[in-house]
Amino acid sequence: MTTGFKNFILLDHPMVKRDVTLLRDKATNPEAFRAAVKRISTIIAVEISRNFSLTRFNVETPLEITEGYKTNQDVVLVPVLRAGLGMVSGFLAILPEARVGHIGLQRDESTLLPVEYYYKTPGNIDVATVVLIDPMLATGGSCSEAIKFLKKRGAKNIIFACLVAAPEGIRKVERDHSDVKIFGAALDRELNSRGYILPGLGDAGDRTFGTL
Ligand code: PRP
Ligand code: URA
Repeated sequence: MTTGFKNFILLDHPMVKRDVTLLRDKATNPEAFRAAVKRISTIIAVEISRNFSLTRFNVETPLEITEGYKTNQDVVLVPVLRAGLGMVSGFLAILPEARVGHIGLQRDESTLLPVEYYYKTPGNIDVATVVLIDPMLATGGSCSEAIKFLKKRGAKNIIFACLVAAPEGIRKVERDHSDVKIFGAALDRELNSRGYILPGLGDAGDRTFGTL
């Protein structure tokens, strides 16, 4: 769905709208929150992989040989710790062969700047489609920094997947990394003075892991 942003693709699906509402609702408990994150992530993975390439091969059914397909796209999923972890299983449901790396970033709540505490990605990410995963795109600092790390390690084809995006974050990522497409389940209004997305869903990590 078009949004006025060059690189932002907003998912337009009734089940995504239903599940984003569940995430927003402060009465949703961590179990239901995680389940909704997983369902939305699966739909995002379907959308992202729409144009992935396939190799044709012959498959033998119990009755005869027919044409079959296998994926030849090397995909590396990179969740940003810790909230990004909640989206991984939904992605793996559609992309079971994907390799998984991790980036540990935490937003310093006073400066709102991201601080790195962990980095581990599989080899050869230069030839892979790298899907960076983080539910919240707020100021865009964490996402932009994570993309910088990935590019430093050689990643050339990067996609960013999030659940809720703020205009401020989209603008920053478009400015810093104009080559990166952003997929999101909701485009929200703005940030508050503490860098939280409005209307948003609160702190995604806390709501996923019940650390409120
Ligand atoms: C959240 C979120 C992003 C970041 C977004 O992580 O998961 O990584 O904030 O904010 P930004 O766009 O302003 O950088 P948080 O720092 O709360 O860490 P957590 O996942 O450990 O809760
Ligand atoms: N991180 C979150 O988890 N939520 C926000 O609204 C902003 C950053």
